[in-house]
Amino acid sequence: MREEESLTTDVLIIGCGIAGASAALEAAKSGLRVIVVTKSSTFEESNTYYAQGGIVSLGHDDHPELLKEDIIESGDGINNTEAVDILAKEGKKAVDDILIKELKIPFSRSTPDSLDYTQEAGHSRRRILHIKDETGKTIEERFVNALKKYSNVTLLANHTAVDLLTVPHHFKNLKSYYKKPQCTGAYILDNHTCRVKTIFTHYTILATGGCSAVYLYTSNPRGAIGDGYAMAYRAGARIVNMEYIQFHPTSLFHRDADGFLISETVRGEGARLKTKEGRTFMENYSKKKDLAPRDEVTRAIYEEMTNSNSSYVYLDLVSYAKFDIKKRFPNIYKTCLKYGIDITKEPIPVVPAAHYCCGGVLVDGWGRSSLNGLLAVGEVSCTGVHGANRLASTSLLEGLVWGARASKYIASHFDPITTYKPSDIHDWYYPGKEEEVDPALVNQDWISIRSTMWNYAGIIRTEKRLERARADLDYLSHRVEKFYKETRMETKIVGLKHGIQVAQLITYAAIGNPNSLGSHYILD
Ligand code: SIN
Repeated sequence: MREEESLTTDVLIIGCGIAGASAALEAAKSGLRVIVVTKSSTFEESNTYYAQGGIVSLGHDDHPELLKEDIIESGDGINNTEAVDILAKEGKKAVDDILIKELKIPFSRSTPDSLDYTQEAGHSRRRILHIKDETGKTIEERFVNALKKYSNVTLLANHTAVDLLTVPHHFKNLKSYYKKPQCTGAYILDNHTCRVKTIFTHYTILATGGCSAVYLYTSNPRGAIGDGYAMAYRAGARIVNMEYIQFHPTSLFHRDADGFLISETVRGEGARLKTKEGRTFMENYSKKKDLAPRDEVTRAIYEEMTNSNSSYVYLDLVSYAKFDIKKRFPNIYKTCLKYGIDITKEPIPVVPAAHYCCGGVLVDGWGRSSLNGLLAVGEVSCTGVHGANRLASTSLLEGLVWGARASKYIASHFDPITTYKPSDIHDWYYPGKEEEVDPALVNQDWISIRSTMWNYAGIIRTEKRLERARADLDYLSHRVEKFYKETRMETKIVGLKHGIQVAQLITYAAIGNPNSLGSHYILD
């Protein structure tokens, strides 16, 4: 390991969506030295950037207890009530203090003096703040701009996390086995030079986002392949609830749209689901009709599609909207029009798509994982807030609250642990890892992973399908591991190694849980 390829910092944050950015801002304000890395070419690129619907606050005639009830009802009751309490009680203050006062986020208003609260499924009140239908974009841009102003923050784009550095795994000193396992940083690949750097740190915060892109159809950007879950798993941190993969009921059905989301706020503002023949159907599945929790709506759509042998259903906004569609949903309008669908004149063809992982790295109220020195925030973590099925628009809020909490914890307990140096650890690479990456092999492996997950570990699971998924993924994982060992380091090959492990984590968790609950549905 060459000295110039090692860096040292107080806090290393991997990922820069709302959770990572919120953690970085709080740590920066405390005067800690922070390095934030992202594998993307820009800091804004993240799931947060594409979030349309909004962020939960508290609306008129609302109360944290009502929010708590809605979260637990949606989560099918297996939520961690302590975590739900934190979110319900601290959420609004975090939105007011960080987003509105500090970052001056221009949330949409219903009148010049009052914020506009929109509605989504499972909420008993209108309590979701939004910026038309592009809420995440502005939030992410303002966070990144704010971080750029701090001289104690280093932002490294185009840097892919390869592995967490842990005592004793990567340490040469055989006596390190007697020490408590601890995360002391990470191996990070520079995407341009293809060299691996070592970042030594006192605290590592994983904020790598979700893993829905291990499914064939997803609303997430293709980079959301779950790097954080895979690295934390290999490092020995506890991972829970991975079977609870939430499918969003409505992504645009169009071969080139790549899972473009049609926000749940569209149904919140009155749109209704219909079969191809124009018949509404949600009243046959739930008293809450089109605003039933996501898992129920998704399964209803799946059933209607199966019964009518159809590849999509319709979402009809135009027949119900009592407002200017172009003004309220400009992004959805523009994007659908690009694909030949005018949502002011016709219904939108939609299909469900993998959207959110309710499980992840088990953490407490401060984001601390079971591994010393490792914290996790946002989608990669499992605080237990979401239980078996996440309530709409709680994810940005959870990222905001836990990001800030994690860094508050670090700042108030900062205890520089032994600083390690490059000569203490093993080189990360395998000798002989020199072959060029063959993109055809990578593409085919991804097709196998994604179709296996979609068909066998997707919306409706059976014991047989899951067993088939397990066998196919186990076989493929040996091939991927061999491929990884022989091939030159590149972000593509790292992603493939992470992706197959995450697919296995989901599948094994689903096999281990025979009870249908929330977004994990097993057909008898
Ligand atoms: C949406 O706008 O429908 C997505 C919101 C969410 O997933 O919370």
